[in-house]
Parts: sequence; structure tokens; C-alpha cells
Amino acid sequence: MLDLEHWSDTRTMRAVRCLVPGGPEAMEILRLPVPVPAARQVLIKVHAAGVNRPDISQRRGTYPVPPDANPTLGLEVAGTVEAVGDGVALKPGQRACSLVHGGGYADYAIAEADQVIVLPEEIDFITAAALPEVAMTVEYNLVERAALKPSEWVLIHGGSSGIGSHAIQRAKAMGANVAVTAGSDEKCAYCQTIGADVTINYRSVDFVEAISEATKGRGVDVVLDMVGGDYIDRNLKAMAPDGRCAIISLQGGRKITADLEPLLRRRLTLVGSTLRPLSKAEKCRIARLVSRDVLPLVAAKKIRSSVGTTFPLEQVADAHRLLESGVTVGKIVLSVV
Ligand SMILES: NC(=O)c1ccc[n+]([C@@H]2O[C@H](COP(=O)([O-])OP(=O)(O)OC[C@H]3O[C@@H](n4cnc5c(N)ncnc54)[C@H](OP(=O)(O)O)[C@@H]3O)[C@@H](O)[C@H]2O)c1
Repeated sequence: MLDLEHWSDTRTMRAVRCLVPGGPEAMEILRLPVPVPAARQVLIKVHAAGVNRPDISQRRGTYPVPPDANPTLGLEVAGTVEAVGDGVALKPGQRACSLVHGGGYADYAIAEADQVIVLPEEIDFITAAALPEVAMTVEYNLVERAALKPSEWVLIHGGSSGIGSHAIQRAKAMGANVAVTAGSDEKCAYCQTIGADVTINYRSVDFVEAISEATKGRGVDVVLDMVGGDYIDRNLKAMAPDGRCAIISLQGGRKITADLEPLLRRRLTLVGSTLRPLSKAEKCRIARLVSRDVLPLVAAKKIRSSVGTTFPLEQVADAHRLLESGVTVGKIVLSVV
């Protein structure tokens, strides 16, 4: 282990920042000092970094970076522990992935030790870089807050997204029945290959009718919703008695008009959350749930990688262009070697 009291890292590293908000070309690869982990932090030598939609908002200047966050882009990484701060039991050389408070698109990143997920050998770095955000979001919302149970029906909107791909497989691994929406027949076919029982092309089919048909009029027990807007009213119509809907994004709008009668008559629950503002303690708790309940499924290939496309760090602008195009399935990951 490095003696941090007598160690100051004089090395520099590549780091992607956006000094002036704009399009993908506005991102620059700078040379910056390698950061030094403080107490209860670790320095990770990044092998791969996940690309997420908030990175695009940050690049455009529409997502205010929290004042204590690293302005380098990137919210999740996988790699090896390089050095640790005081009070950390992890050891240099351990393979790990983690959410980071900014700073993921770089050769080295700082993570909170409590949020680090130690990786078994069976899970490669590209797969692992796409795990923290999706696995923690799905575990928190689908498994914990919406409390999906074996044999229940779940409707997952955006089934071919990174979150959707993982959620389909997580739900199937626990023995649930899975219906999804996706925006093309190709995306529906992809969802089927990873386990979806019912796929609904939302551009040509009304999901409320399709769910009624698939569940013989009963509705789904759980909805994982990343659309919001007018989907809320339709989710309520598609839900079974005592159904739970977890809202994780509002791509379709944040203001709604909804008929709340099913909420009362069928005792429905609507919950919402977003990962980033959760306390460190809560993120640490969810990371431990992922280590305990999800890693073994990924290691055993019961949940396959949700990575659709990989780019080298130098092609970060192309990675953002692809995510913005909406044609991709699964997650996009930057290879940082
Ligand atoms: N709350 C949280 O803690 C949390 C954490 C992580 C991510 N998120 C959010 O979760 C969403 C998914 O993230 P991601 O990175 O996995 O994927 P993403 O690349 O942001 O994908 C967005 C997905 O939304 C789907 N979508 C958009 N409009 C739709 C509609 N009207 N009906 C059905 N699906 C629709 C798209 O489906 P098509 O391409 O098929 O049109 C696409 O699959 C994002 O909005 C992200 O911001 C939330």
C-alpha cells in the first residue's frame, strides 16, 4: 500500500472536460494531475468508463455539476485499485467498479471506498464499467422500491436501453414475467433475445391494450418507467390491483394530467427517485446490495453484459453522437487503456 503521507502524485493523465458547453466536439482531452485519494477514498486506474445521458446534459451545460463534484465527465468506472486513503480496507491491485462523483472519463478516478464494488475474475472491465449506474438503479427501484416478486408481471419501458436491458434480465433471473416497450421492431427483437416475454413497439401499438391482452385483463404488478408525461396516466390503466410504479426519468415531460381513479380503486403506488442526489450512506448500501445480489448473477452469465458499443477514450465525441442518435441498444462504454 502507498504511504500517502509522503506521497504526492506528480504524474499527469488524460481527462475529458468540456470547458465551453456545446456539441460532442466541445469535449477536450486535457492533461491533468493524477488525483490523490483522501481518507475513505480510493484511486482507481480506469480501464473502462460508462457513458450516461447526464454526461450529455453536462456537456451541453444543461446539467449543473454539483459544486463538490469533479468537472471531468463520467459517472462510473471499472479498473484496478491504484492507491487508497486512510481508513480503507481495499488493497491496491484489486479489480473494482464504482459510481464516481464526476471524473470517470480519465486514466485515473477517485471513488468513495464504501461505494466500490469488488469484481470477481469472471466479470471483465467493459461489462463492469456499465454496471454501477444500471445495477444500482434497477436494484433500488425495481427490486427494493417497487418490490418485484417472482411470478409477478413487470412492464419495463425503454427495454433496449442500458437500464432496460439490465432490468429485463434482473427480472427474469428472479422469475418474473417481463413485458417491455421499445421504439422499433429491431429493438423489440433485441429485448426478446435477452429474455423479454412480451415486446411492444410503442410507435405502432398501444401498450395499455397490449398489456391487457398479455395479462388477460389483470394488468402488471410493477412498472419501471423512464418516460413520465402521458405515460403516467396509461401506466395507471395498465396496472393490476396493488401495483407499484417506479419512475426513474421524465423524458416525456414532468407535468401530467392523469385519471387517478385506478390509484384509489386498485390501491396503486407511484414512487420516484434519482440516484445522484442520494446520500453517500444510501449509495453505499445500494452498492452492497449489488455486490451481494447482482454480481453472482453477472459472473454466472445469468445477467449478460448490457454493453452495446465500445469506443476508445479518444473517440469520446463519437460515443456521445451515438448515444444522442438514439439508434443504439444497451450501454455505451469508453475503453480507457
Ligand atoms: N433515476 C435514476 O436513478 C436513473 C439512473 C440512471 C438512468 N436514469 C434514466 O433512465 C433512462 C434510461 O437510461 P439509459 O442510460 O439506460 O438509456 P438511454 O440511452 O438514456 O435510453 C433512453 C430510453 O428511453 C426510451 N424511451 C424514450 N421515449 C420512450 C417512450 N415514449 N416509450 C418507451 N420508451 C421510451 C428509449 O427507447 P427507444 O430507443 O426504443 O425509443 C431508450 O431506450 C434515462 O432517461 C436516464 O436518464 C435514471
